[in-house]
Amino acid sequence: MSCEVRRNRLRAACPVIAPSMLKCDFSNLQREVAQLDAAGAAVYHWDVMDGHFVPNLSYGAMVIERVRPLTNAFFDAHLMISNPEQYLDSYLKAGCDLLTVHIEAAPNPVPLFDRIHNAGRLAGLALNPQTPIERITPYLDKCDLVLVMSVEPGFGGQRFIPGSLARLTAIRAELPTHIVLAVDGGIDPETIAPAAQAGASFFVVGSAIFEEPDYSTAMANLRQRAGATTEPS
Ligand code: DX5
Ligand code: ZN
Repeated sequence: MSCEVRRNRLRAACPVIAPSMLKCDFSNLQREVAQLDAAGAAVYHWDVMDGHFVPNLSYGAMVIERVRPLTNAFFDAHLMISNPEQYLDSYLKAGCDLLTVHIEAAPNPVPLFDRIHNAGRLAGLALNPQTPIERITPYLDKCDLVLVMSVEPGFGGQRFIPGSLARLTAIRAELPTHIVLAVDGGIDPETIAPAAQAGASFFVVGSAIFEEPDYSTAMANLRQRAGATTEPS
């Protein structure tokens, strides 16, 4: 599959709710996948943490690779890791469709974007709540998605930082229209509407899906509040 096919797939899915797999039940991944697919999850968001870039450790490419054959969903790997250049190949091999690196871990992300694009995948650029927006400005037209962290990365279940709304608005204003603006952290039925109004169209959601009894109901509610007009196919 080429970058262009993947770009069309990603843009067609937006506005999209991307479940954060950090919050899933790891004792039964097969059941989680079945429930997410039944709930219409078009994108899975994989939070990769190395215990160094962030003060927490999650899972790596091996887990993603084992889940890859279980679903046709679009796989988004959020690499919260130092030295991402050393690990890109394993996430490409694992079958990720989109690889997002942090500007704080990759001050010049262009060579990484080139490697990702050469493999036919899409490239995302993430920034932490404290990082000045100017740090990503030179790269806005070189990636496929910008991920605005609305909590300090490392843990699910944190509260949305209200100042993130102004950051979303400012980035959306600078971002070429075809590039997707994503928001990650503390997104729930209350915070999703203002985040959508601020320009986000890709919403990473952990607790507000996985701590709910029914993923379909939770996702439908979030989708509606994000302003989605059509149900996913
Ligand atoms: C935080 C992760 C998020 C997080 C989202 O470091 O990048 O994806 O797990 O979880 P909630 O929705 O619970 O904030
Ligand atoms: Zn994430």
